[in-house]
Amino acid sequence: MTSTITRPQSRNAGNSNASQADFEAIRALTRNEIAAVDRLILEELTSDVVLINQIGKYIVNSGGKRLRPVLLLLAAKALQYRGDHHLILAAVIEFIHTATLLHDDVVDESDLRRGRNTVNAVWGNAASVLVGDYLLSRTFEMMVRTGNMRVMDLVSHTTTAIAEGEVLQLLNVHNPATTEARYLEVISRKTAILFSAATQLGAVLSESPQEIEGALRNYGLHLGIAFQLIDDVLDYRADPEQTGKNLGDDLAEGKPTLPLIHAIQHSDETQAEVIRTAIQEGNRESFATIYNIIESCDAIAYTERRAEEEAQHAIDALTAVPASQYKDALIGLADFSVQRNY
Ligand code: IPE
Ligand code: IPE
Ligand code: MG
Ligand code: MG
Repeated sequence: MTSTITRPQSRNAGNSNASQADFEAIRALTRNEIAAVDRLILEELTSDVVLINQIGKYIVNSGGKRLRPVLLLLAAKALQYRGDHHLILAAVIEFIHTATLLHDDVVDESDLRRGRNTVNAVWGNAASVLVGDYLLSRTFEMMVRTGNMRVMDLVSHTTTAIAEGEVLQLLNVHNPATTEARYLEVISRKTAILFSAATQLGAVLSESPQEIEGALRNYGLHLGIAFQLIDDVLDYRADPEQTGKNLGDDLAEGKPTLPLIHAIQHSDETQAEVIRTAIQEGNRESFATIYNIIESCDAIAYTERRAEEEAQHAIDALTAVPASQYKDALIGLADFSVQRNY
């Protein structure tokens, strides 16, 4: 499975350091809280089953942007939340994310994540799935500690929606007739709903009016869609040194993401057939050919434009939120989600 694909072209060449610096500056606004969240995460990973500690620490310590907890913390701070449940819920959101990664790398047969061999590559599929399950169960215990029924309702609906998104995606794999609408349905559920839960939880905790809660939910949803659209671009055009993931995992899996869906509709019949076959077969061998086709019919640029539109919807959703440096940071994260290279 190891990728031998070389990087086709730099995305946003020259801009990568800028977007990284912007993200670091935004994350610094939550420096103390995110450090507390990281401590909590490590504490909660403690189990007397040694393999759980080992695998949990392996994936958590290998990095990750901690974008979802940062979103929750910023939303809570933008709405002037004064308690400490935002810390536990930020850890809950990161645990859910980590569990989905452990499951996703098995389903996608990926062998590189966060610059290291995936858990499934090191310990096998069974260990990756079971430790993912453990993390999800842990989140139930953790959220119950908030004693807040609205929180529990929101988080449990979120994990259900993610599972639905992953199963829907499974139904699309190897299907070249997958439409853009169906693709959007998948990414909304598998990725964006967790982003929207993170930001909505900030509003739930601060007992904000419905209008503000809806605004934060919509912001997270559009942001999450933009984020996954760019993730799907990065699978074709990124520096694996920066993303810590292999190029071409989606193609190898026969996953019909937007660059391929758009290219089928906007290339000539011969090229469209090459893409359809690649989706049906799912392999890395055709990567260079496919990459050239999707570039030549503007499919990468189209996907990036769609991500920009979603990021703008995310920013627009925040209109009713009072001005603050935290609101500005949320706006900055919408830009980062589109400009990022990792
Ligand atoms: C990867 O998410 C999975 C997607 C939803 C695309 P991130 O890019 O946030 O992964 P980490 O946590 O930073 O590794
Ligand atoms: C995100 O999709 C999956 C989850 C929501 C866990 P991908 O399969 O594109 O994520 P990466 O690229 O493996 O991180
Ligand atoms: Mg994957
Ligand atoms: Mg991906």
